[in-house]
Formats: sequence, structure tokens, C-alpha cells
Amino acid sequence: MCGIFAYCSFLVEKDRKYVCDVLCNGLARLEYRGYDSAGIGIDGDAPGSPILMFKTVGKVASLRKEILEAKVDMTKVFVSQTSMAHTRWATHGVPSNTNCHPHVSNALTEFSLVHNGIITNYKELKLVLLKRGYTFHTDTDTEAVAVLCKYVWDSQPHKRLNFTELIKTVIKELEGSFAFVFKSTHFPDEIVAARRGSPLLIGVKTDRKLKVDFVDVELPTNEERVNDPDAGGLLAVPNAVAEGHGAAGPKLRRSQSRAFLSEDGMPQPIEFFVASDASAVIEHTKRVLYLEDDDIAHIAEGELHIHRLRRNDTISSVRAIETLEIELAEIMKGQYDHFMQKEIYEQPESVVNTMRGRVNFDTRQIMLGGLKAYLPVIRRGRRLLFVACGTSYHSCIAVRPVFEELTDIPVAVELASDFLDRRTPVFRDDVAIFVSQSGETADTILAMRYCLERGALSLGVVNAVGSTLSRETHAGIHINAGPEIGVASTKAYTSQYVALVMMAVQLSDDSISKTARRQQIIDGLHDIPSQIRQVLAMDKSLQQMARDMLAKEKSLLIMGRGYQYATCLEGALKIKEVSYMHSEGILAGELKHGPLALVDEHLPVIFIMTRDSLYPKVQSALAQVTARKGRPIIICNEDDETVSDNAKCIRVPQTVDCLQGLINVIPLQLLSYHLAVMNGVDVDFPRNLAKSVTTE
Ligand code: F6R
Repeated sequence: MCGIFAYCSFLVEKDRKYVCDVLCNGLARLEYRGYDSAGIGIDGDAPGSPILMFKTVGKVASLRKEILEAKVDMTKVFVSQTSMAHTRWATHGVPSNTNCHPHVSNALTEFSLVHNGIITNYKELKLVLLKRGYTFHTDTDTEAVAVLCKYVWDSQPHKRLNFTELIKTVIKELEGSFAFVFKSTHFPDEIVAARRGSPLLIGVKTDRKLKVDFVDVELPTNEERVNDPDAGGLLAVPNAVAEGHGAAGPKLRRSQSRAFLSEDGMPQPIEFFVASDASAVIEHTKRVLYLEDDDIAHIAEGELHIHRLRRNDTISSVRAIETLEIELAEIMKGQYDHFMQKEIYEQPESVVNTMRGRVNFDTRQIMLGGLKAYLPVIRRGRRLLFVACGTSYHSCIAVRPVFEELTDIPVAVELASDFLDRRTPVFRDDVAIFVSQSGETADTILAMRYCLERGALSLGVVNAVGSTLSRETHAGIHINAGPEIGVASTKAYTSQYVALVMMAVQLSDDSISKTARRQQIIDGLHDIPSQIRQVLAMDKSLQQMARDMLAKEKSLLIMGRGYQYATCLEGALKIKEVSYMHSEGILAGELKHGPLALVDEHLPVIFIMTRDSLYPKVQSALAQVTARKGRPIIICNEDDETVSDNAKCIRVPQTVDCLQGLINVIPLQLLSYHLAVMNGVDVDFPRNLAKSVTTE
């Protein structure tokens, strides 16, 4: 997740300092979407001259400092100007000045853009453009789009496209998700914004009476995108365009959309603010227009025109100006009351982002680019040593069995603090894997340095790109879950889990005997997002269960075994940290060795009893608890007829055994959230806890 922002003013005199302040303030509001680097692009001194850029690794505060210290005339006044800004949450390429947005097509900044999302076919685009002599300077997916703009521009020197047509042509070649703002020295005082899958809205500030008149445009049948150059698609544009769009080439349709015309047709002062969400525009205006997928918005000469990339009968063709009536904090949380709740609900998307570009569901293959070069060393390792804290430790416990099964390498899972306390023996042929959302947890970092000193290959599985762990390990995986703000980790857990399962599958792809199992897991991964969605749809009944059965209790046990032991630990941690209710995750196999003494008619016990090879053993533990009048709540599969309808149960969809924990943890996250709200806890900031534990 990144934040994008653009500011366009027409016939409103503003100096450069004012423009920079507007951009930085907008970015500061969007920082919760990503904060590993920030950048802005503003007009140069003369119309059409290269854009001026300021970029910095780190937060917007550093960017402000950078701008303050720059030797640029900040008093230069613009009558009209367009400018753009970006705060980054790295997905492709480490946080660095080079990878920071805006990205440009070339040194002259003929085309520049800011981007939120992931372009999954950027490698293919880059290859074609490299072959045609274009050069690249960053590790990002976004740069390919900037260079593609330049290519399309160069391809038709005799009959220039207008800015909107050019961007439409570019966008038709893109796969993945995006929200963009484009700027070009060929089109001074114009910008084009577009979205598919990532949010984008436009705030409008003016004294004019606004009129929105938007006409959807039908797509000619021969305009479908063809990405194969040999078939005469975009990347064969030079001929097609030179010949005036031959039948095989893409045809560009004429825009029929109109918006924001002043009543008398005369130009009048107006300002536009384009942003990933309303938090960045609300201090300027409450009048906003939300773009829909495949909308292309063109702002020029004080007017906004919206075009459609393709016809879509499910999306209305009318874009109305809405008046915002919500507060800033509410905007950042969207429709949710707390970040924790929002992040729980983001999981169908965040797990997709973890898999994006890495899992090929057609060929049933997984490729984690960051590990590729190290696969032979990992496979030869004497031991896989997972080290982490808290929730991240639980994700390691969750995947231990699948690593053991698929790799046949001994696996140890260690709590970082205990690992250090014991000064655990580590060898040169160990492979140490450090799992951390923040990448800044002190114990995990110290454990990593301890292993590095002893010569072990050290890998990081991290959410925060550019964090200490991701920088200091030899290689690793970014889980791409997006920023997690609630102190209680939720979406990072499921993304770590998915990333680690992918790693286990990739490690085993040299084993023919494991092919069927790998394919079963990959098929299972395919359905996980929709299955998580199914569980989220049960939220109301879980809220009621929390109120009726748990809210007044002092203690709660969560029991299971095998793959579900990690789910028990993680569920109990969530409940204790956000609701302050005592809760313990117990391995059902240990029940008779002590915990059974706790069971009486007052104690609620959640049993995780989804179907796998250990199901009969969990059934027997359940029988022992009910025999002692314990009060079980059973998490079981939706079609499990052995669980009586009279029992209190939470029925969840079934998946492959090693992925079932991804589904089972969702009701526990939701229960803990509701218990916290019912107990009046500050859900996102529970007492005594911090998001990133940077001290030992
Ligand atoms: C619990 C939680 C913590 C973290 C732990 C490690 O909800 O968030 O237990 O998991 O502090 O943090 P990271 O993953 O950043 O190393």
C-alpha cells in the first residue's frame, strides 16, 4: 500500500513554497498507508521544462527538511500548475532515493508518475522496452509504466495522441492493480489520473457552480487489447500508428465526457486534489468525487473530464460530487471503527498481495524471487532454524509441520529471547529464518546478528521493506501485507503464514514424489481469500457469541493439536492482549498432563476441531472436557455432522490441512476484537504494548 496525492491549481496564484506545503501536508495524512520513502514532483521554472523532484528515504518530515534545504527559488509564482506526491510502502525494490516516486520516463522527465499498487507484468514490459533501446534505472515495477508512456509517445511522431489517449493506450497494456497520477512536460498544466483496484478520489475547491456531465463511451470491438507484439498489439504500435491505426492496431476512441464546465463557459479559478483517500483533501475541501475502476480522469484548463477505459455495465456512468461529513481519523479507518478491525477485514486482499506475482495457479508453481539463488544452499542445510517473537513466532509454529513434510530437513522454532538467553549452538550449515512484521524487533535482530556471526545463512521474512531485518539478512521474502497499524497483529500473521507455506512448497519443487502434495497446497491457496471472506461474513454471529458466552468470563482456554496448535496460541494471545481476559492456548495432547484440572462448569474452552488426521484425538479431548461439565465452543468444518447442532459451534470452510489455520484464526481474531470493544479497551493501542518492540 502506498499513498498518492496531486495538486492542480488553475488561475489561482500560488508560489512554489505553498505548492510544496500542500503536497507535504497531503502526504503526511497518507503516511499510514506507507512511510518508507516520500517524494514530490513539481513544475520547473518554464512551462514544459523538466519537473523538479525532491525525494527522501523515510518519512514526510525528512522530505520537508530536504525541500527546506534545497537551492530552489521557492518564491516563484505560478498562475496555474500541476504537481504530484507519493509516500511509499515498498513492494518492488528496497526503500531508496532511486526507487522513490515520482518515477520518470527519462532524464528530461517527459513523463512522470506516482503509483499505488503492483504491476504484475512489468518484467515483460521492461524486456520489450529494453529490446527497443529504452533504459531503466530503478528496481520498481512503476518505472516500466513511465517508460511505456515515452515509448507510446515516440511511436507516433506524425500524429500525436492527446494526453488522455496516450494514457489509455498505456493502461491497456498493464496487468495488476493501480492508482496513478501522470504528468508530462509535453502537456504542461495537465494531469491524468487512473485507477484499477487501488482507490483514488478527486477533491474540488472552487467558487464556481459545478456541473458534472459524464457520458460513458462504448468500446469498439477491435479495440480489445492485444499484448502480443507479433499480433499487432500495443508493442507493435509504431507501424499501426504510422498507418493511422490499421485494423490490427489499437483504435483510440474519442472522448465524449465532460465535467466541471462553468455556467458561462469562461475559465475560472479552481483547485483539484487527487488522493488515495479523503484524509489528504479534507483540509482543503469537503467536495469529492470517487473514481471507479477503469475511470481515467483528465484535468486541464480548470476542467475535469472523466473517460472510461472499457464498458462495464455493473459500474454506473455517473460520477457525483459528494460532500464529506466525516472526521479525519474516521477516513483513515474507512468504514471501520478501529484499525484492528480494518486489518482483519483486509485479509482476503492482503493474502492475495502476498501471493501476487509469485504463485502461478495455472502451472501450479511458486517462485519466490528473493530466495531463488539460495535454494541449493537451503536444501543442503543441516537444520531450518525459525526465530521470532509473539505472533510472528506463532506463524513459524504453524508452518513447522509443512516444512518437515515437504523438505525432510529438521526444523527448530525458537522464541528470539529464549534463543539468545540459551546461547543456542548455531552452525555454518544452519539456515536461520527470522520472521517479523516490523523487521525492527530487538530480540529478533539480536538473534539474527548472533546467527550471522556464526556463519549461518540468514533469511528474513518481513513486512516492512527496508527495515533492519530486511537489510541485514542475506535474502528473504517480503510478505507485502501492507502497513499494519493496530498493535495486535492480524493480517501480518496470515501473510507470514502464506509466505512461509510458499517457501516450503518452493523448496520441495526438486522432489517429484511431493508433486501431488504441492499441487494440492497450491490449489488450496487459490481458494483461501474467498474462504476468509466467508468467515468474515459470520462476524455478526461471532459478536453475539462474544457477548453471550465470553464477555463476562475471567478466563478462556483454546485447545487443539497438530496444525491447530499455532492457532490456539495465536487466538489466546489476541484475546489476552486486546481484551485483557486471561486466555491460554493448549496443545490438546497435554490436556491430561495438567490443564484438565482447570476444567469445571464455569470454564469456557474453545476447541479447534476441523478435519485432519488428528481429528479423532481432538474429539477425545473434547469428550474429556464435556465429561467434566466444561463449556466447549467448537470450531469445526461447515459440513461436520458428527458435531451436534445443539453444540455451540463456529462452522468454517474446509481447506487443505496445512492451510486450515489461516481460516480458523479468523473467528478468533474477530472474537478478540469484539471482546476488547465490549470491555472498553482502546483496541488499537492496548495498555503497556507497542507496535514495534525495539528494546530487549
Ligand atoms: C501480537 C503482536 C506481537 C508481535 C511481536 C513481534 O499481536 O503483534 O506479539 O508479533 O512483538 O513483532 P514483529 O513481528 O514486528 O517482530
